[in-house]
Amino acid sequence: MITPSTIEQIKSRLDIIDVVGEFVKLKKRGSNYLGNCPFHNEKTPSFTVSPAKELYKCFGCGKSGNTITFVMEHEKLSYVEALRWLAARYNIEVEETQVSNEQKQLIQVADSLYIINSFAAKFFDNQLFNTEDGQAIAMSYLKQRGFREEILKKFQIGYNPAQRDTLAKELIGNQFNRELLPRTGLVAVRNETELVDNYRGRIIFPIHSNSGKIIGFGARVIGKAEKAPKYINTPENELYSKSKILYGSYFARQAIDKQDECLLVEGYTDVVSLHQAGIENVVASGGTSLTIDQLRLVKKYTSNLTIIYDGDSAGIKAALRGLDMALEEGLNVKLVLIPDNEDPDSYVNKVGTAAFQQFIANNKKDFILFQLEVMLKDAGTDLTKKNTLVNQIAETISKINKAEDFTKQQEYIKQCAALLKIDEAGLITLVNKIKRDKVAKEDKKLSLDELNNQLTTDQQETSTLDDTSFLISADEKQEQNIIRVLLDFGLNQFTETETVAEYIFAGLQDFPFENPQLEQLLERYKTEYRQGLEPSTKTFLYSEDKETRELVIAITLFPYELSSNWDKLYVGKTITNQDNSHQDVLTSMNYYKLCKLKKMFKQNQIDLEKATKEEATLLIKIHFDLQKMVKEITKEGGTVILK
Ligand code: CTP
Ligand code: MN
Repeated sequence: MITPSTIEQIKSRLDIIDVVGEFVKLKKRGSNYLGNCPFHNEKTPSFTVSPAKELYKCFGCGKSGNTITFVMEHEKLSYVEALRWLAARYNIEVEETQVSNEQKQLIQVADSLYIINSFAAKFFDNQLFNTEDGQAIAMSYLKQRGFREEILKKFQIGYNPAQRDTLAKELIGNQFNRELLPRTGLVAVRNETELVDNYRGRIIFPIHSNSGKIIGFGARVIGKAEKAPKYINTPENELYSKSKILYGSYFARQAIDKQDECLLVEGYTDVVSLHQAGIENVVASGGTSLTIDQLRLVKKYTSNLTIIYDGDSAGIKAALRGLDMALEEGLNVKLVLIPDNEDPDSYVNKVGTAAFQQFIANNKKDFILFQLEVMLKDAGTDLTKKNTLVNQIAETISKINKAEDFTKQQEYIKQCAALLKIDEAGLITLVNKIKRDKVAKEDKKLSLDELNNQLTTDQQETSTLDDTSFLISADEKQEQNIIRVLLDFGLNQFTETETVAEYIFAGLQDFPFENPQLEQLLERYKTEYRQGLEPSTKTFLYSEDKETRELVIAITLFPYELSSNWDKLYVGKTITNQDNSHQDVLTSMNYYKLCKLKKMFKQNQIDLEKATKEEATLLIKIHFDLQKMVKEITKEGGTVILK
């Protein structure tokens, strides 16, 4: 087996444009690339590659995927073979693990559970379609609810008979491991040795992994649930982890990708009914709040998530919880509430596909505004509650931190301020304050001219920052910032002939560090760099001495922000990551130099006041030299930054 760290390394090196570009002639088109599809014959290009999403998609034949699946498809390789192919291409040494006995067991257990599950699914299917009870009890119920046979077949829906141990006997008769069987949740142990069915008399909804394997089941009582719970689900085991799956994702993947939207409903039956109605880009959460893994699953296919819940479902609040995470993942979240005690299943059956789709389109509410409405209702006239609410909503809005979503954020601020009946400027300040505390630097751009104007206020502000534990001078913060870009991007190419590290080393020659600790860190970086040891944040974080580790953590985790007026300086353009790091390095270095120059200016001025005539000539020359340098830096920044 390939070690996880090798796989990580391969993934981190993948460049979809580079890999696809080897086989397809690509042309840049906006933020994407376009070429002739390698998977079908075409003359006008409809094969699109998105470097930002690391995905490709052909609008002609519908093939889509990521860098690894591209290699698999194109070179007809398995996943592992594709990884090896990529490793070879990027000169990455493949480490193989000796699989430990424990791991072996885990894999074996998962494999066995999977085999048991697929056996059981066939059994359930047969029970539903080919037995008297199945037809009389289960099929008649499903038919009465409007499910047709072909959709039941597609989702492999089945029936577990009402008798005590029909399935259990079948499983034992087929020599499945008795110890393992209870782990599937299909059967339970009674009286210490006896195995009995767990889902007696229930309709069975198999739950598929993304690749279509049956990893668990949801089992519904037939008719009204009176004493027993309505659904029994597979317990967490080696195969099934509820927080990582969305019901229906296997059947919805392509439709989600094609329509660039994922509908999220609560229940199994909602998914199946919508599919039957021809709406296939739908998955279910099972009524609990969404996890980060589930959001990422959605994000793989689309950035547009539409949550469809019934109007008075307890599930709404659960769904809203944790949705801030969705914003951080860059998802656009919309919400639709189904009226009159209906759920998506009953509603689509009642009004039909076209009306259902129309309703969704007309009633999409923005998630943030919806959340605010709900909270406002909760708060009533309570002022303290309203205050908390203002902070909460500012927090939510601040999580929209992608540069390209800047306008959206402004729009939210406007609408939320109106709903809250508060001053828009006040909300802006609050949001900006929260962002300042947190937001990632790489999503931002600076204009050097404004930066230059900002220098004075910024340096004054340093001493009044909230964070008193970090009382260091503006100069030192600049030095820290240089270390940060060095550790983050030092090994990147800055220009065709020069790495970021080399660019920085050269720049620092005229402007050395003053803080001895940082100077030492810099020297260490230089040494390791020149020895070809490829120093980086990671390697420094594994330093033997604690002091270095802590310093590096402080520098890289809580990066110093160049300007507190940062937010005003957004440039509302989409920028690629590569541009971003280049920009970051350039801005950081220029800003650093300007700070040093400013200090030199000051010193020069002080010296000048006390200078003799002869000394003065030299100092004045220095003054003009310094001025020239400032101009050059500003000009460089101006041409590069304000493109
Ligand atoms: N659920 C569960 N256990 C329960 C009740 C509900 O796991 N005891 C999960 C199931 O995934 C279910 C979803 O929550 O699909 C939504 O519940 P609910 O709306 O009650 O059920 P429906 O899916 O609408 O089922 P039906 O239409 O058959 O009533
Ligand atoms: Mn329902």
